[in-house]
Order: sequence, then C-alpha cells, then structure tokens
Amino acid sequence: MLEEVLAGLRAKPKRLSPTWFYDELGSFLFDAICDTPEYYVTRVELDIMREFGPDIARCIGANAALIEYGSGASLKTRLLLDCLDTPAVYMPVDIARGHLLDAAGALARDYPALRIQPLCQDFTKLFSLPKTVESAERRVIYFPGATIGNFEPEKACALLTGMRSLIGKDGALLIGVDLRKDPWTLERAYNDSGGVTAEFNLNALRHVNRELGTNFALDSFEHRACWVEAESRVEMNLVSLRKQRVHVGNEQIEFQAGEPLRTECCHKYTIDGFAGLAAHAGLVVQDVWLDEEEQFSVQWLSPRTLQ
Ligand SMILES: C[S@@+](CC[C@H](N)C(=O)[O-])C[C@H]1O[C@@H](n2cnc3c(N)ncnc32)[C@H](O)[C@@H]1O
Repeated sequence: MLEEVLAGLRAKPKRLSPTWFYDELGSFLFDAICDTPEYYVTRVELDIMREFGPDIARCIGANAALIEYGSGASLKTRLLLDCLDTPAVYMPVDIARGHLLDAAGALARDYPALRIQPLCQDFTKLFSLPKTVESAERRVIYFPGATIGNFEPEKACALLTGMRSLIGKDGALLIGVDLRKDPWTLERAYNDSGGVTAEFNLNALRHVNRELGTNFALDSFEHRACWVEAESRVEMNLVSLRKQRVHVGNEQIEFQAGEPLRTECCHKYTIDGFAGLAAHAGLVVQDVWLDEEEQFSVQWLSPRTLQ
C-alpha cells in the first residue's frame, strides 16, 4: 500500500488511487452521493434496470452464477434478482469489507432462497472462483455503477480481459457504462451543492492517514472536479491550498499552492467508443439498454467466438 501510494505521489501530476475512497465512511458517503439530486448516474441506471430488468434476466437465463464487481450496497442487484430465474449463486466482490458484509446480510434476509457468497477482494487482482460458481450453468459478471469508467482505457481493457477469462466462453458481462453528455450536467454531478462529493474525495486522505500514518491536513486541500474534453472524462482532484509537505513513509512529499492531487478519473463513452474498447478485450456488445435521454447505458457483452 505504501509503495503504491508513494508511486502515485512521486508521479506528475500527483495521483492517489480511487480505491482509497472506500473505507467505512467512504462507502457510506458514496451511497449518500447516489442520493444527491445532481448525481444522475445511479438514478438513471436504476430506471433502466426497472424498465428492462425482465429483458436482461432473459439474456442471463436460468441457474446462472452472478458475480458482481464493486457491489457496494448491491442496490441495483435487487432489481435484477427480482427478475432472475433461480440464480445458482450470487457472489458480490468488493474491497470494502464492512459494507460488503452488511449488504450481503441484508440480501440474505430479503432473499432467503438465494445462495450468497461474498468475497472481500481487489477485483483488479487475480482471484479464483468457488466451486459453486465454477459449476453453475453459466457465469455472468455484473459491473454496474459506471465503475468501469474509473479506469484509464488501457486498464479498463485489461480488467475486461480478466473478466472474459473468468466467465469462460459461455459466460457474459452486464456492465453499466456512463455516456458522454453536456459538460454542465457532468460537472454538476461531481460537484453537488451539499458538498457530499467533496467530503467523499477528502475522505481518501483521512483513510490514507489512518492506514499509513501520513499527515495530510484535510483543511489544506480542496475538492475540484472538472470535465476534460480531450480525455472525455471528469477529473476529480484535491487541490493543495498552500505550499506544504506531507510525510509518507520515510519521504516528505512537497505540494505547491494550487497543485492538484488527482484522485479519480470518470471516463464517459459513446456507444461505439465502448464497443471498440470491448473489442480490444475480445468481447462483443450484444445488447444495449438506454434511458429515454440516452444519458446512461447498461450493456450486455459476450466473449468473441473464433470462427
Ligand atoms: C462507484 S461504487 C459503485 C457501487 C455499486 N456497484 C453501485 O452501482 O452503486 C464502486 C464500488 O466498487 C468498490 N471498489 C472500488 N475499487 C475496487 C477494487 N479495486 N476492488 C474491489 N472493489 C472495489 C467500492 O468499494 C465501491 O463499493
């Protein structure tokens, strides 16, 4: 962890992995972001799942193992589970242990017939599947929340490639992909008027301080999120409000006044752009479900078969 954080802080521009957002408080704050009026992402994706849940469930079919990457509160999953025909097992995968277990516990209470096998795991690293998942009729990875957009296209491609090998040739992916839209809507979504996203962003420093004994002063950094057209992404930064030094391990990292520390990039795709990325990962987009205003997409992908 220390090495990874240090590597990011030595880079230009300085960066911190978005994984650091998600301690107990961070998970709670993310759920609060989803309730802000400005953050259309969750609201629209939920609408799509409500409208097209039965169609999506038909694609998934009966007795499938559902593996969810970055499951968080498993909110959208409920809409899917309500439509699915006897899922063999549900395996939520998340790095935030407490939140993962709370969500799995709540699901177990509400879906007593469902087999649930939570896994606390960094999904960017290799992991193996339990027998129950391996032996299901087919494996489907569900990856909602536009989390795929948090990866640089190259890393997103590597992640999709890893998913493809995990599902095998008969499996499929169901992914929530946020779409390009007007900059005003995008910047507003990541700068909510209640300051919840700002608090979520700053919490990454609190988390690092606690885990690594660093001394980031939270009141010396300010949240800033802006749309960068050339990269087709919203960049979230913590901007240093003054010249300062932070102790990290045995090093002192210097920040200039106004210097940004990048904490997250949220890439926004066109339908064709995402299909191109998927193709690089050996996947074919089979179906796309959209909201009326075409703000967000839920996409169904399968491995490309060799002729
Ligand atoms: C943007 S939130 C989405 C949550 C939920 N899927 C939704 O759609 O509302 C990202 C989720 O992924 C988890 N996460 C982020 N990076 C992760 C990683 N590298 N490995 C496992 N989980 C991760 C976070 O803890 C969080 O629950």
